[in-house]
Amino acid sequence: MSKARIGVYGMGTMGRALALNIAEKGFDVAVSNRNAGDLPQVADAGETLKGRLTAHAGLADFVAALERPRSILFMIPSGAPLDQMIDQIVPLLGKGDLLIDGGNADFNETRRRGDALAAQGIDFVGMGVSGGEEGARHGPSIMVGGPFATYRRIRDIIEAIAARYQGDPCAARLGPDGAGHFVKTVHNGIEYADMQMIGEIYGILRDAKGWDAARSAALFERWNKGPLQSYLIEITGKVLAAVDPETGLPMTDVILDRAGQKGTGRWTVIEALKLGQSASAIEAAVAARSWSAAKPARMAGEKALPFAAQGQVTMGESALEAALLAAKIIAYSQGFSLLRAASENFDWDVDLARVAEIWRAGCIIRSALLDDIAGAARAGMPHGNLILSDAFAAPLLAGLGPLRDLVAEAALAGIPVPALAASLAYLETMRRGRGTANLIQAQRDFFGAHGFERTDREGRGFHGPWGLGTGA
Ligand code: 6PG
Repeated sequence: MSKARIGVYGMGTMGRALALNIAEKGFDVAVSNRNAGDLPQVADAGETLKGRLTAHAGLADFVAALERPRSILFMIPSGAPLDQMIDQIVPLLGKGDLLIDGGNADFNETRRRGDALAAQGIDFVGMGVSGGEEGARHGPSIMVGGPFATYRRIRDIIEAIAARYQGDPCAARLGPDGAGHFVKTVHNGIEYADMQMIGEIYGILRDAKGWDAARSAALFERWNKGPLQSYLIEITGKVLAAVDPETGLPMTDVILDRAGQKGTGRWTVIEALKLGQSASAIEAAVAARSWSAAKPARMAGEKALPFAAQGQVTMGESALEAALLAAKIIAYSQGFSLLRAASENFDWDVDLARVAEIWRAGCIIRSALLDDIAGAARAGMPHGNLILSDAFAAPLLAGLGPLRDLVAEAALAGIPVPALAASLAYLETMRRGRGTANLIQAQRDFFGAHGFERTDREGRGFHGPWGLGTGA
């Protein structure tokens, strides 16, 4: 039997779906898994794909089944398990063989692994894959980081299995080393903010307006036909409409309000801070997930700190829609500014328009907005900031008043809207030429003689008339 073009190791949900997707596109695939018991079922599925998929229980058999130079895609948890697998497989490989990490990896780790493997003559690619099981099986968005020459070896496979937006494959090599995993991390950070903002609107509908799940579901279904059209709005309508077969209650009413997180949202915020950037809407979303986990404390807080609402949320559907759209543009803008900063800092030369283009289909944050973002990024973002692009002036100005109303009314009604409020604060800050950091500079100079710039003269290092630490 001829050798397989690529190997996929790790037959969890994503690995299995990707292997079947690759076989379906006409490439021979060898698969393997730590637990060999899962393999026959995958092999059977491969049989229906004209026998393009072979399963191998032993690692040596798996490696031997691959054409040379070998390409092996790991779809396993991307921390210590991946390092252990790399250690096990490298002695079986030869120079020029390629390992691909398709998990959600910390890009710092991807860079470390790439350097360590390069020293052993093994190529390495960090590849972000978005779209969940359905995407992996029928067309994910794929964000690749690694040398261009290496990408060329697998490009036909990657582009064949990726989602398509009007015929354009949603896959690209975005830069060297950790660029692909970094972009995927920021994708997930934006995903956190998008989900949190939708959740905050749901909270207003449920707790301030007293809407039941079915009524909210209908609103999200309507919104999915307008400028908010996106996969996340679509599934929000669907999950709110779902009924628990056991109790007959809306499904969302029987799900505990405690959200999990696996790390990519947190990494986005950590890397933003390291780069001196603000991703405050994403940070708010990560914080909200952490607060959600503190369920017992919140239950106690409800009793310990009772305080009646001081107002109501009176805004209508279209004002809420405009506010959510503006806040969403701001969250995406923060994400793209972070990508730009990272690209400059690490010399990646990431094509931000291409990032937006490959997010238009297949991935979790796919939305109508991303096509506009791609266009704005292609046109060149003034000061590297999407909110300054002509394309977004109209929705931001139309949404600013409603977003102010929303945050103010929610505050008076006692409804927390941390991500929406963070977006508003950013927008208000970025549309004011004169801020208040002059006072910060004066304080810093007062207590630490840090010096400041003046509005009326060139240069740095001016000092105030207060004398160090005395105020005299
Ligand atoms: C995707 C998802 C996927 C996964 C994340 C979500 O793009 O397909 O983002 O990668 O669902 O792990 O992260 P949390 O589990 O932290 O919510």
